[in-house]
Amino acid sequence: MRFDVVTLFPEMFRAMESGVTGRALRKGVAELHLWNPRDYTEDLHRTVDDRPYGGGPGMVMKVEPLKRALERARAAAPASRVVHLTPQGRRFHQGVAREMAQREGVILLAGRYEGIDERLVECCVDEEWSIGDYVLSGGELAAMVILDAVIRLLPGALGHEESAAQDSYMNGLLDFPQYTRPEELEGRRVPEVLRSGDHEAIRRWRLQQALGRTWLRRPELLARRRLSEEERELLEEYIQTHQGVAGSTPREE
Ligand SMILES: C[S@@+](CC[C@H](N)C(=O)[O-])C[C@H]1O[C@@H](n2cnc3c(N)ncnc32)[C@H](O)[C@@H]1O
Repeated sequence: MRFDVVTLFPEMFRAMESGVTGRALRKGVAELHLWNPRDYTEDLHRTVDDRPYGGGPGMVMKVEPLKRALERARAAAPASRVVHLTPQGRRFHQGVAREMAQREGVILLAGRYEGIDERLVECCVDEEWSIGDYVLSGGELAAMVILDAVIRLLPGALGHEESAAQDSYMNGLLDFPQYTRPEELEGRRVPEVLRSGDHEAIRRWRLQQALGRTWLRRPELLARRRLSEEERELLEEYIQTHQGVAGSTPREE
């Protein structure tokens, strides 16, 4: 999959060279191309921002260099939609990452300052996504969040021993708790069932933990999901055994 990012800070994307994303880029599972609007300025000072009409604090990204950089990206990736990162966009989630992972590519547009000129949004942006209800200083981290979430879903990005399929949100539930050696840590033992070798019992325990955790931590996710009969029984049992135990009531937003 091809990713193009229009950004004033291309050097930030070196962070993508680590771990799963770095391996995927080296293997050619994903390609990353960076376009800096500053390279498309025409004045001596390479100006990329200007004062906002109407006054007020802060600066706004100038249209011309940004538009030229975007046009280059679009010419290089004609099949890609232009995605603007903004706190005013729809909230990004795993379902969107899965949908994006089916595409040939995306062009991510990272804002800075007070944001980009609205006319650029009107003419040239196909989608707007936010990574959460808070304001970052720039769209680069948001673009990297999307890059990471999408790249790890691409076929060949994760090794055999890793899997995205069981991760939180992939089946509408949070992930079950994970353990590794040692078997006992400061008096806390790994749940016995995980050492039993009984694959069916392990599957049921993990499913029950995933259901229980989702019920406790993100009850609204469960409300959106249709449960199978087995899942309903497992959740019922989880709720019964945890009722009255400290920290075992569903979390509220
Ligand atoms: C300081 S912010 C501008 C915020 C803008 N004045 C507003 O309140 O909507 C600068 C840039 O960071 C990016 N950004 C900030 N928060 C973001 C978020 N939650 N999701 C995606 N991008 C974000 C956007 O690209 C934005 O143009």
